[in-house]
Amino acid sequence: MSFNLLSHKFAISSDHGGYALRKHLVHYFKANEITNFVELGAPTEEIVHYPTYVDELTKLILNKEVIWGIMICGTGLGTAIAANRYQGIHCTPCHDVTTARMARAHNDANILNLGGRVIGTFQAEEIIKAFASTDFIGDRYQLRKDMIDKMGCCS
Ligand code: RB5
Repeated sequence: MSFNLLSHKFAISSDHGGYALRKHLVHYFKANEITNFVELGAPTEEIVHYPTYVDELTKLILNKEVIWGIMICGTGLGTAIAANRYQGIHCTPCHDVTTARMARAHNDANILNLGGRVIGTFQAEEIIKAFASTDFIGDRYQLRKDMIDKMGCCS
């Protein structure tokens, strides 16, 4: 069986800007019998402050309650900036299938960040499939990841 992160427990979260895409994806997962995930995030499309939801998601990963996560805000930018403040989190905004593959292969990302206002629903599904089915290469990429992890601790 090929490697697939969707078979490991994960979490999906969003702020209000990512709410609609998050709801679409939750429905998509269930329709595809993917049920081993936790849904977090803004309860409605009413304005919230995304660092709260980033904190919640990163803690689940750092406490090993889930292996990886999907974070969605309006652009996929602010939540990625926030998530990468946490030691041990490697969060990559991905707007296409190629960057999604590279985010795993080269960067060993443990949070896939999506922009709910800048990509479509089908594109998001394809990005998730590419991200989830790509393994980390390791070797010199592990060395670089270790160098990043030694750069400083913000959390
Ligand atoms: C919220 O309006 C928006 O700023 C947020 O979802 C995200 O795009 C920030 O980077």
